[in-house]
Amino acid sequence: MSILKAAIIGGGHIADQNHLPALAKLSDRVKAISICSRDIHKAQALADKHGVPFAYDNPDAMYRSEGKPDIVVNCTANNLHYPFTMQALENGCHVFCEKPPAMHAHEAREMADLAKKKGLTLAYNFQRRHAPEYATLKNYHALGNLGEIYHIKATYLRRRGIPGWGNFTNKTIQGGGALIDLGVHILDLALGLTGYKQPTRIVANTYDFIGKTGGKGLKGAWNPATFEVEDACFAHLSFPGNVSIALSTSFALNMEQEETINLEVFGTKGGAKLFPLSVYTEIAGELADIRFPHLDDVDFQLQNTTAFLDLCDGKQANICDGEQGAILQSIVEQIYQSAANQ
Ligand SMILES: NC(=O)c1ccc[n+]([C@@H]2O[C@H](COP(=O)([O-])OP(=O)(O)OC[C@H]3O[C@@H](n4cnc5c(N)ncnc54)[C@H](O)[C@@H]3O)[C@@H](O)[C@H]2O)c1
Repeated sequence: MSILKAAIIGGGHIADQNHLPALAKLSDRVKAISICSRDIHKAQALADKHGVPFAYDNPDAMYRSEGKPDIVVNCTANNLHYPFTMQALENGCHVFCEKPPAMHAHEAREMADLAKKKGLTLAYNFQRRHAPEYATLKNYHALGNLGEIYHIKATYLRRRGIPGWGNFTNKTIQGGGALIDLGVHILDLALGLTGYKQPTRIVANTYDFIGKTGGKGLKGAWNPATFEVEDACFAHLSFPGNVSIALSTSFALNMEQEETINLEVFGTKGGAKLFPLSVYTEIAGELADIRFPHLDDVDFQLQNTTAFLDLCDGKQANICDGEQGAILQSIVEQIYQSAANQ
């Protein structure tokens, strides 16, 4: 098997901490050859740190040079996922794009369509799919042990976790707040258990009281005067077949814990909680709680990058692909539309 050449576009935190280390661990399948960031000094410094041969300050130059890759890992801010992914696909590259897929539903749809038209792989980095709790729950469900899942409570809540750095409160760059940054992770997991379908109805509310008022922050201080996104979002999603998901997500909410992330799954034969994984069922006429105390630790990013490479090789893989990304982005947009109409 030939070794694929990869380029990173966007040389920030996720490139440095997640993608470049994962690519290095998979050196028998892929090699990072280029880093492209708008600041050439930053791109060069990151390239030097990770032993990457070429650095660029714009992708046009990269596609015209010896640093042209087979794969682009799009690690830019949310508003650049669409243009840089489309450009990479036009240049014949597979794309592994950071989450959220895009800013708007039509963009994620166009990205999926172009990848399909070009016969290229497009996938998104929702790496929590590889949490051992989630993989085990999916396997347990596939064996029929939960029966039909009819409701999921999906939560990703922070008490005072408005990020005080970066672009997280800038609507033009981020496209939204807690939902598009945090909620999408847990929504992806919930959709993965319910067949990744489009809902028939969505009712949602968003809030920005704490973000716009200011106060104590547990992830640095933020500026309420420039806070443009939602600090909390609550949505009820109704799917064909009387299936529903209740999604709650926040950067800031006056609640007990600093942060909670979980799925509570309710099925006809059993229910489950994801973190820590527990199953609630009935065995031999008695109610039973099942725990899974021996799950192995997993490198989520390594697993998701491996899944992406498998998809590029035409294999089945547990990853959010272009089609699922388009569904997820459409749901995000519908949630924001519903909230705007309240
Ligand atoms: N999957 C996850 O769990 C996870 C975690 C963190 C971040 N992310 C996502 O990763 C993306 C980047 O986040 P980050 O934390 O690394 O942000 P960051 O601000 O640290 O990095 C973004 C990088 O993009 C570069 N950039 C901006 N404009 C550019 C341009 N025109 N050309 C080339 N490069 C440009 C910036 O210079 C910066 O280096 C976001 O979409 C975010 O949602 C995902």
